[in-house]
Amino acid sequence: MILITGATGGIGRLVVEQLAAGGAPVRAVSRSPEKAVLPDGVEIVQGDPARPDTMAAHFDGVESVFLHARTFGDSADRLLALAVERGASRVVALSAMNIDDPFDLQPSRWRGDRNKEAEEAAVASGLAWTSLRAASFAGNTAQAWGAQIRAGDVVRYVHARFRESVLDERDLAEVAARALLTDELVGRRLELTGPQSLSHEEMVAVIAAALGRPLRFEERTPEAAAQHLVDNGLPEPWAHALMARYARYVGGEQHPVTGEVDKILGRPARTYADWVADHLAAFRNG
Ligand SMILES: NC(=O)c1ccc[n+]([C@@H]2O[C@H](COP(=O)([O-])OP(=O)(O)OC[C@H]3O[C@@H](n4cnc5c(N)ncnc54)[C@H](OP(=O)(O)O)[C@@H]3O)[C@@H](O)[C@H]2O)c1
Repeated sequence: MILITGATGGIGRLVVEQLAAGGAPVRAVSRSPEKAVLPDGVEIVQGDPARPDTMAAHFDGVESVFLHARTFGDSADRLLALAVERGASRVVALSAMNIDDPFDLQPSRWRGDRNKEAEEAAVASGLAWTSLRAASFAGNTAQAWGAQIRAGDVVRYVHARFRESVLDERDLAEVAARALLTDELVGRRLELTGPQSLSHEEMVAVIAAALGRPLRFEERTPEAAAQHLVDNGLPEPWAHALMARYARYVGGEQHPVTGEVDKILGRPARTYADWVADHLAAFRNG
């Protein structure tokens, strides 16, 4: 049995689908299981990883645990101690490539994400561990630009030339499944990127080509971009940490392509163009 925390979210759901498609037995954890829509055959249980007492019984019969960094609050060590007590043997931590950066350059910490703690708890757990140090997700671009592109032809955003090698979430889920099912990736901190480094402006050009209409990138100052994010409901410290992260890496390269996905999966990583082609509705008007 494989236990998945964060199972109803963007990444957890893909990991569940990947495992279930291969016939692996999956126990999906949700705080609100009545709302969870997951593949047939997946066992859905109520639990909150931030309250390990709600989780203990769920580890019975579990071999591998997917530890999602948004779910456990300050309880990662206790949670994995319970997994060990109940007989688990493997843990795969969802983490991030930026975890060694100062915390004020990690916007996700302001959302409660504990990517560093996820990896550290996995390593210290005594379980056979793998850490998935993911680069920025391709889906972030839909959140950042989707509304503007649905509404018009101009993308106003910061740093046209900021480059990164965004990761297709489906590749991350496939690597996670490999790590949960086999011992091939035990003891590794996997730096997972997409196959190409693209600037913000180049990514917008990829979207334009897929939509078949011109899009223009118009550079905003970091101050204006941060204010725009705050006006749209994002926490101020999160917006400032994002701008600080951009300022730290602009002119260089945030996370150069590692090629790790290709090596692990034995096929080329999905490109950003692949991701856009499969998520066109995020950018298409009507
Ligand atoms: N975006 C990026 O570029 C990037 C890059 C690298 C790493 N990451 C990391 O990836 C993670 C985000 O993954 P995701 O997109 O799958 O997240 P998500 O869609 O928000 O899913 C998280 C799931 O966890 C459960 N959950 C339990 N406690 C929660 C809490 N206190 N707050 C929010 N959700 C909680 C929720 O399920 P229930 O409500 O059903 O319990 C939710 O469906 C973060 O840790 C982030 O730091 C992101």
